[in-house]
Amino acid sequence: MTVTLANQEHVHTDLDIWSDEVLANPYPHYKQLRDLGPAAYMTKYDMWIITRFDVVKSALADWATFSSAHMGGVALSEDGRAAWSGSVLESDPPEHTNRRKIFDDTLRPRFVRHALGDLKQRSEDVVDALLARGTFDGVQDFAKDLPLNIIMDLVGWPADGREQMLEWAEGAFNALGPEGNQRMIDSFPKLQAGIEYVRTHATEDKMPAQSFGGVMHAAAARGDIPREVVPIALTGILHASLDTTINAMSSLLMLFAQNPGQWDIVRQDKSLVPSAFLEGLRLESPIQFFSRATTRDVDLGEGVVIPADSRVVHSYGAANRDERRYADPDRFDVRRNPTDHLAFDHGTHSCPGRTLATMEAQALFTALAERVETIELVGEPTRELNNSTRGYASMPIRIR
Ligand code: HEM
Ligand code: HEM
Repeated sequence: MTVTLANQEHVHTDLDIWSDEVLANPYPHYKQLRDLGPAAYMTKYDMWIITRFDVVKSALADWATFSSAHMGGVALSEDGRAAWSGSVLESDPPEHTNRRKIFDDTLRPRFVRHALGDLKQRSEDVVDALLARGTFDGVQDFAKDLPLNIIMDLVGWPADGREQMLEWAEGAFNALGPEGNQRMIDSFPKLQAGIEYVRTHATEDKMPAQSFGGVMHAAAARGDIPREVVPIALTGILHASLDTTINAMSSLLMLFAQNPGQWDIVRQDKSLVPSAFLEGLRLESPIQFFSRATTRDVDLGEGVVIPADSRVVHSYGAANRDERRYADPDRFDVRRNPTDHLAFDHGTHSCPGRTLATMEAQALFTALAERVETIELVGEPTRELNNSTRGYASMPIRIR
């Protein structure tokens, strides 16, 4: 029997994963989707969604079937695909291998480690200053500090424009949304402004030689990479390096505020900071969705076949809470050490910035664990609803 959409009604869903209600608390919905089948068809969007750990992991490992380039790329709207076509995120090997090299070279651990001393010092200063204040905003005053004060220098962004950078980065993640989505439509001017800034400001003469930007410009001057690739890659760093890390750090702070017993465990054994960071990424994956397109029919078992030429959204957030993979998946357990979590993707597009993000978070939470006994939430936090990322807009925190 030929498999059609019509004869797979058992896995159809009318859930709108980009509605405010679902974005505010997606986890019960993810569980329903995982239980529905190895994939679900979203009737509202004519897209599939995969949410189980094994299915997402296998799909990410199989770029030939779950392609980033096929059907115009990974964005979910025509405008998004048109703006973004041909980038590293929208290519498969062998093109991807060439485009990716600039990030692997620039962000390689040996190169980013020279920032470690600054990260440690700044983290200690941040925590000391917050301790003196007592009460502060966990997003603005805590999670944003390293990305704004150390990472921007590391990238080498010229001073004017930096204050708008977070808005441009958030624009990129909302631009990932589906056709007709208001957040997606509103984000395009911000996205464009960020691209314009990089083109006009992040030039060779304005970026210090030791910075990521300086290193990229120098590689282009030597003829190692084409000149036109530099602004594109720098736009990528702008899009990918800020909200992701900020969300990872604010979500982890919130998890500790909600689970004081887990904070005590880390305080008493600071070697658990790396494991706690992985557990935070697993529970509150900073990027919740991206997508791929199928190049052939994919039989996932249980009577579910995703037809060729389908748009498939994959949810890192849902896969990382799959009870088929993690026992008691909704529990925050700093000793779990989930090294296989998918929050940094897996396979071809797996995040080249993971070392940098990990160093930032470990420096900040180590400084916190060395100095702070209690972390309390002292008011209502507010969520930042976004088409792709998950994080907070604000959270009133008190530390002692
Ligand atoms: C639909 C949403 C998005 C659109 C339309 C978009 C648009 C763009 C555009 C137009 C460029 C090239 C800039 C230029 O030509 O100067 C670019 C580069 C890039 N963006 Fe975004 N962006 C989006 C979301 C994201 C997200 C969510 C990420 C985070 C992981 C990201 C990461 C990158 C990367 C890595 C590059 C560099 C590509 C390369 O070097 O080949 N973008 N983006
Ligand atoms: C906790 C923080 C971070 C998380 C959770 C994260 C997550 C991700 C994910 C899920 C992807 C895959 C997108 C896809 O499927 O196509 C990705 C790609 C990427 N990330 Fe990260 N990221 C983080 C931090 C960073 C930082 C700090 C940088 C740069 C300084 C960075 C640079 C990139 C780039 C350039 C890509 C594109 C790779 C490619 O397409 O081959 N990320 N990241």
